[in-house]
Amino acid sequence: MIDLQSLSELIEFRRTVKPIVSIGESNFSERPVSRETIERLLSNANWAPTHGLTEPWRFTVYQGDSLKDLAEFLRQAYTAHTSEEEFREAKREKMAAYAECTRVAIVLGMKRHPGKIPAEEEVMAVACAVQNLHLSVAAEGLGGFWSTAPVYDVPAVRAEFGFDGDEDRCLGIFYLGYPKNDWPERKKGAPQPVEEKIIWR
Ligand SMILES: Cc1cc2nc3c(=O)[nH]c(=O)nc-3n(C[C@H](O)[C@H](O)[C@H](O)COP(=O)(O)O)c2cc1C
Repeated sequence: MIDLQSLSELIEFRRTVKPIVSIGESNFSERPVSRETIERLLSNANWAPTHGLTEPWRFTVYQGDSLKDLAEFLRQAYTAHTSEEEFREAKREKMAAYAECTRVAIVLGMKRHPGKIPAEEEVMAVACAVQNLHLSVAAEGLGGFWSTAPVYDVPAVRAEFGFDGDEDRCLGIFYLGYPKNDWPERKKGAPQPVEEKIIWR
């Protein structure tokens, strides 16, 4: 039996830790993340709750040399699928720098089961899997960061990641590596008090 105190500590300990401090300054050490560790993290993600047992989470894992390909692909995808008014070179380079400075990138897919479960419930199930992943990452002393951007879910882009069903989605990229700097504090401190978010009846 897991005790609630230990679980609460892990939940509060989990932080978003990004692969870069700024462009050109990595936040992750060179220490590799073993295949065995990645498999364990994804096995924990796989135990998420799922309506109708559709298990809609899918993961495309980049590590080692393939991360350079991911960075280049993200540069090209952002350039190809961003309007002139919205295009920001700094944004494109930050997106690529995450992939260049991370040890592992896990692209997060949602495999749609049309007619079985509403799409939003499948998105919710994937988010549960990502929280399992992020808590496990923290328990291993790894930094983790869930990055989202509209370009990841452009049909041609998500198909390249391996999520090519008509109603599949790409819900982001999860970056992870062992941090080389101090474990961060939560931005703006603790969350707003939960009492303000509860209606007791
Ligand atoms: C669905 C989702 C998407 C997120 N996307 C981004 C993102 O694209 N960029 C970013 O800087 N942070 C992103 N975050 C992380 C939040 O910034 C972070 O969770 C928040 O600052 C609270 O910090 P904590 O995770 O350390 O508690 C995302 C978080 C979630 C749950």
